[in-house]
Amino acid sequence: MMLGTVQLGVLAACIVLFVPMGMAGWHLSRNKMLFFSGALFISLAVGVHLSPYFPSITDFISSSSSSSSSSSFPSSHSGNDRDSCLPLLHEIYFDIEQVRSINGSLYYLKSWGWPQSGAVSDCGFQKLGRSHASDLLNGSWLVVAGDSQARLVALALLNLVLDSERMDAVRSDLFKRHSNYQIVVSDIGMKLDFIWAPFVSNLTDLMAEFKQYTSYPDVLVMGSGLWHMLHLHNASDYRISMEYLKGSIMSLMQMSPELGDDRAVSGSPPFFWLGMPMLLNSMLNTEEKRERMNDAAFFAYEAELRRSKILRESGGPLLLLDIHSLTRDCGKRCTEDGIHYAAMVYNAAIQIMLNALVIESHQKL
Ligand SMILES: *[C@@H]1O[C@H](CO)[C@@H](O)[C@H](O)[C@H]1NC(C)=O
Ligand SMILES: *[C@@H]1O[C@H](CO)[C@@H](O)[C@H](O)[C@H]1NC(C)=O
Ligand SMILES: *[C@@H]1O[C@H](CO)[C@@H](O)[C@H](O)[C@H]1NC(C)=O
Ligand SMILES: *[C@@H]1O[C@H](CO)[C@@H](O)[C@H](O)[C@H]1NC(C)=O
Repeated sequence: MMLGTVQLGVLAACIVLFVPMGMAGWHLSRNKMLFFSGALFISLAVGVHLSPYFPSITDFISSSSSSSSSSSFPSSHSGNDRDSCLPLLHEIYFDIEQVRSINGSLYYLKSWGWPQSGAVSDCGFQKLGRSHASDLLNGSWLVVAGDSQARLVALALLNLVLDSERMDAVRSDLFKRHSNYQIVVSDIGMKLDFIWAPFVSNLTDLMAEFKQYTSYPDVLVMGSGLWHMLHLHNASDYRISMEYLKGSIMSLMQMSPELGDDRAVSGSPPFFWLGMPMLLNSMLNTEEKRERMNDAAFFAYEAELRRSKILRESGGPLLLLDIHSLTRDCGKRCTEDGIHYAAMVYNAAIQIMLNALVIESHQKL
């Protein structure tokens, strides 16, 4: 928990120096590197100057100076942010309160965040606002592919970088049923493709297309499973299709010198897997769904997903955005149909992804 002021200084210097340097490995522009080094420097400087006014920080500085031995220095923080912080990204809380509005109707007030204490707070995760996110994503090509969960993720991502007027137009276009959607946000040179891909085989086809045209997105988020569960309802078949997908991603990575470079250094490309949400069986809106989409099916699919070894935790290429744990934490009050959840859940998923990108770039030295 406690760092000496000297160690704190050294840590701060390392962060300011190495985070932006690491970002070069991500092919982020020089502007972005400068921005991040500036932003980090400012927040660290502000932190140091404001520290006397915050009792917790004062406590922590005085107690560490009194115990000036190095035994209080946490070994987990000696630069290995990736191993210590990546697994903590999903440790967020949801705050849901029922309130009565002036006209008498009841509604839920919802918010989320990372705890401000313990190991999670040491990682310094941040909710990126519009300008930070725009800067990080400036000049990038993002692809979000999958089913309706993926669409909600694309919406959350755009909501972060577009103003509300533009969002209204996007919302109606994006929600045309079962179609692809592309938008170029010209002021930040960002391109986002939403690819409607309800089945894993559709994702595998997409990988083949990337390979064929030798063009790869800077960030890829994909997920699929609900349609398979509803229409095919065969978990081992799902695993087989995931293994094909894994094969196509691996061959894409071998072909691409850019992804290959990244891989050589960091072990993985910026590719994410969207897990399935918690399914609230009694809320599902058709008999067929209630019959086929239940906990038993979910856990069978989940087990086969792990067996496919496509996820980073089992040596695969994709980092899990664990929608199931987020939706479970948010709970019943966050969904009306038992499958699609409140925007807040997908906003949290996006912030987890952006923070993962920042952590990963730090690692790439
Ligand atoms: C009551 O107010 C809430 C927001 O304050 C609004 O969303 C809702 O539509 C209102 N209901 C009626 C019946 O006016
Ligand atoms: C995005 O980057 C371009 C050049 O790389 C720069 O001119 C522009 O100001 C940046 N936009 C934002 C919003 O940061
Ligand atoms: C997705 O894959 C299914 C099954 O392989 C196929 O029937 C469907 O046409 C594909 N959809 C798209 C949008 O490619
Ligand atoms: C499930 O899929 C596997 C692999 O495709 C197939 O061998 C098996 O027969 C299927 N099971 C059922 C009950 O359809």
